[in-house]
Amino acid sequence: MNTRSVHTAAFFLLAATLAGTLRAQSPASLTVDLDRPKATVSPTLYGLMTEEINYSYDGGLYAELIRNRTFRSDWTGVLNWFVVEKGSSSAKISVDSGTGPSAALAGSAKLEVTKADTGNPAGILNEGYWGMAIRPNTEYTGSFFSKGEKESPVPVQIALVSDQSGKVLAKTSVSVSGTAWKEYRFSMRSGTVAASSENHLELTLDRPATLWLQLVSLFPPTYRNRANGNRADIMEKLAAMRPSFLRFPGGNYLEGNRIETRFDWKKMIGPLVDRPTHPSTWSYHSTDGMGLLEFLEWCEDLRMQPLLAVYGGYSLGGQVVKPGPDLEPYVQDALDEIEYVTGGPDTKWGAVRAKNGHPAPFSLSWVEIGNEDNFDKAKTYDGRYAQFYKAIKAKYPKLEIIATMPVSGITPDIVDDHYYKREQGMFELVRHYDQADRKGPKIFVGEWATREGSPTPNFGSALGDAAFLTSLERNSDLVVMAAYAPLFVNVNPGGMQWSSDLIGYDALNSYGSPSYYTQVMFASCLGDKIATSGLTGGGDKFFYSATSTVKSKACLKLVNAASTPQPVSITMNGLGSGTHTARIETLRANTTWATNTITEPERIVPVPSKLTVRGEKVEYTLPPYSIQVFEIDLK
Ligand code: AHR
Repeated sequence: MNTRSVHTAAFFLLAATLAGTLRAQSPASLTVDLDRPKATVSPTLYGLMTEEINYSYDGGLYAELIRNRTFRSDWTGVLNWFVVEKGSSSAKISVDSGTGPSAALAGSAKLEVTKADTGNPAGILNEGYWGMAIRPNTEYTGSFFSKGEKESPVPVQIALVSDQSGKVLAKTSVSVSGTAWKEYRFSMRSGTVAASSENHLELTLDRPATLWLQLVSLFPPTYRNRANGNRADIMEKLAAMRPSFLRFPGGNYLEGNRIETRFDWKKMIGPLVDRPTHPSTWSYHSTDGMGLLEFLEWCEDLRMQPLLAVYGGYSLGGQVVKPGPDLEPYVQDALDEIEYVTGGPDTKWGAVRAKNGHPAPFSLSWVEIGNEDNFDKAKTYDGRYAQFYKAIKAKYPKLEIIATMPVSGITPDIVDDHYYKREQGMFELVRHYDQADRKGPKIFVGEWATREGSPTPNFGSALGDAAFLTSLERNSDLVVMAAYAPLFVNVNPGGMQWSSDLIGYDALNSYGSPSYYTQVMFASCLGDKIATSGLTGGGDKFFYSATSTVKSKACLKLVNAASTPQPVSITMNGLGSGTHTARIETLRANTTWATNTITEPERIVPVPSKLTVRGEKVEYTLPPYSIQVFEIDLK
């Protein structure tokens, strides 16, 4: 043990003794046989699950800055858009459902400027998703569809403006001409401004005129500069998790509250102007800018395999499509969707994908049928699953078909288990897969989370998560994939529909919860073999996992969820008598309630240290409330 570890352990023991109340947990004895692998670690164990919830895409990962770019309205008027009248000018905005640039967007906003001049412009402003992040020396690219009342050109001034000072941070203009719908593109650059999110976009005219507008869009630079792409800060956080797959598009979002509001993928491909948008399950409207191809490109960018969930004939409100002829169109839709993902440009749907900008097919190994079909009161999943299974296997025999619950009649390739629990509940779950049947289907834990803390999980949750992850690693011969949910939350008021979400953000910043860092740490040393191991003694809040990559490294995860230190004698058979270096990452906190926030994002982050291991035995003391990952060189 190195000096730092000795000191850490000694400090906690001394503090405990002085306080007179804290006593170390009963000593544990952990034996790991590095030369006797028990089973293979699933290389796809860690992945991501995602859906439109908590403003995950709109107002989240999807980098669009304009909120309600398609001018939806309610009884209060056009949502998120407001009239700007400077000086003596005068303007009005209304919805015109009779004219739009496409069949999908058949309506538009009618902007009537009745009085304006160069010193007194008028128009509209967009508030963004709880503001608009503007950074210094940054290029913003935008577009809109428009038409005028007359043939004569109408200049439109476009500006990013500070909410508080009214200062123009970036500006440009375009000239709208003619009475036919056309798309206008623009870009503008900020100067040496301070980064902030208290900004908005203004579109103004310097003369009386009437214009119709639709699909006003504005993007900052995106991850890997993708058009219609994703926020770089959030993508970087995901990359650090080393995810091997992405389960999309849900979750409840896949099912919709009604059949018509399901994830209807054919309405979410191609140019944005051809996407009608739809109401999502989670009480807000989806722009559908994150459509099927965008999910696939997200996979491509982070080198994840897609895990495609297809609509399975059950919607959340209880509507069911009966197995048999009624279900056939939905099965065909799923087959078309798989062809869109995997087909060559010579196939019908592969050609559509190529036309949408991605000629190369994506590889696909898993298709999931529906989501949480145990809620189907009519109990039709056996029949629905079988119908999808047979049709998909007939055309794509290599695809593994995931069931969302146990089914009878057919043995699914994989069954998706979901767990949402408090910390205590997670501890109780830790032995669950140790005893599970190995003869049945493989397991995908498609959603799981310890739910303590809001909007993002606190350290108690991280301890519950870490304990659960040790059990997944130990059993990853059976549990082949797992993904935490929900992944994202916009922390602004009204942004959250489901609490305890892995990564939080506002318009400008994002942060990882302690649970996020736990997953980053666990995925950093997965190993490829599960080591034979045994534990005696120790408190009931001590958890571990031991894996290795032969002749390369051993990975040891130690979790002490107790408030007192946990002494442990570790024997690693196979290390030999030499000296080995262990790189340690430690995540710890003083209480289970401690957490990270958008304003204090790094209170709890992994701290690296090193330990020199001499021989095969180590006497070690885990600090209270701690999660540690040891990567031990075997070379
Ligand atoms: O993750 C939040 C929700 O929990 C998912 O949409 C649903 O599948 C589950 O009930």
